[in-house]
Amino acid sequence: MSSIFEYAPAPETTKPAIREQYGLFINGAWVAPQSGKYFDTVNPATEETLARVAYASPEDVDRAVRAARKAYDKYWRKMRPADRAKYIYRIARAITERSRELAVLETLDGGKPIKESRDFDVPTAAAHFFYYAGWADKLEWAMRAGREPEPLGVAGQIVPWNFPLLMAAWKVAPALACGNTVVLKPAETTPLTALALAQIIQEADLPPGVVNVVTGDGATGAALVSHDDVDKIAFTGSTEVGKAIQRSLAGTRKRLTLELGGKAAHIVFADAPMEQAIEGVVNGIYFNQGHVCCAGSRLLVQESVHDELVVRLTERLQTLRLGNPIDKNTDIGAINSRAQLDKITELVQSGIDQGAVLVQQSCTLPDRGYYFPASFFTNVQMSHRIAREEIFGPVLSILTFRTPDEALEKANNTPYGLSAGVWTDKGSKNMYIAQHLRAGVVWCNTFNQFDPSSPFGGYKESGFGREGGVHGLYEYLAH
Ligand code: NAI
Ligand code: MG
Repeated sequence: MSSIFEYAPAPETTKPAIREQYGLFINGAWVAPQSGKYFDTVNPATEETLARVAYASPEDVDRAVRAARKAYDKYWRKMRPADRAKYIYRIARAITERSRELAVLETLDGGKPIKESRDFDVPTAAAHFFYYAGWADKLEWAMRAGREPEPLGVAGQIVPWNFPLLMAAWKVAPALACGNTVVLKPAETTPLTALALAQIIQEADLPPGVVNVVTGDGATGAALVSHDDVDKIAFTGSTEVGKAIQRSLAGTRKRLTLELGGKAAHIVFADAPMEQAIEGVVNGIYFNQGHVCCAGSRLLVQESVHDELVVRLTERLQTLRLGNPIDKNTDIGAINSRAQLDKITELVQSGIDQGAVLVQQSCTLPDRGYYFPASFFTNVQMSHRIAREEIFGPVLSILTFRTPDEALEKANNTPYGLSAGVWTDKGSKNMYIAQHLRAGVVWCNTFNQFDPSSPFGGYKESGFGREGGVHGLYEYLAH
């Protein structure tokens, strides 16, 4: 087996300007929370505290929603669409200009490898602002025949901790382009890039109140969801919280989009290009430590190539570098929080207890910080918890199938339906499988491809509504 050779440490050197304490960004200004409370955000790679962040109470959320309403009525809905576009382009350019700083901030606050925040999160976030800036003055071309593009009003947007800046961009950019104003609630473990985005928005001189950022926890999010003067809620996060939000909005006039969990099938046929498929599988599950709603976490391998694939994947596992995410050579960074590490550990134990066989990369975990080695399970049964529940960590469950129809049956046997992947050399088989998979996104002979022009979203318990592309505009326009 090829063993990993030593690399010298290569930490990214940029020191982002992190303030000791952050207020709330309301009505274009930094304000102290009426709650008087602050909470710490830590670096999960070292457990060091990075900053103190304001905790927004329901009163603070109310202030933010009022500011957003005023900005909507007074400036944003009345502004010429081409002028709105100029502001959104300005945000996009500022993200590009500050890309190194934002990447370091994202990695420090959330634990993802710097090469991912640098090469994926930040450029893709900027791309979303560029893309939707382009739509702002062309909305009538996006609308179905004859409809006038009309914004919804104030959008409450709640984002998770796995792609903090990118999820904020997915939500804020189309909302602004369509003429809505925003109250954004970042996740409690990763508020820093949303706060940096607020600084960018302040410097871009957007009218006060067009974008407000309120930091806090689930109670802050719940206050935003239940606020009377919010016209739309966009939520990305756990299925459990998504269901609770849907229940609480039933019977109200508020519009809702939900982007929830997943347990994506990643199907590898015997005729697949094996080297590429292995790379696709590795990318599918170990990207961002598996903290990915569309992660290819259920590998379905055709029986005749199962043993070969397992041997190759075991070898490949040993070449993944786990360590401090700020190092440019790191492949597997830190788990986002202790709570998430506990959840992963518990589910992995259930896999062992239920009789699956665990294979892990052999490496020494850093003394401090939250880490979990890249892992996979063989001998997995469809009934195992590790085959059904979202682990949201670097843990793959491998199952087998014999015929294309059996692959489809197993792939679709899940309460989720966010994404899926197929590997085969045969084009017609790719098409057949892709057409019959009940998933919002299907990648053929590739995985985890994202583009602002391509819509993304789920079926079943993975949620509803689409983000990205023309479809993403409909979620922020009255129709
Ligand atoms: P979560 O759903 O609690 O958190 C996501 C966001 O929702 C955060 O900003 C949080 O403050 C907010 N939130 C929490 N409770 C809320 C409520 N009642 N009303 C409004 N907003 C609320 O997710 P959590 O607990 O951090 O992670 C638990 C599991 O959820 C993970 O292990 C993973 O399986 C899944 N998850 C899925 C994500 C996805 O992208 N689909 C993202 C994050 C977590
Ligand atoms: Mg943090």
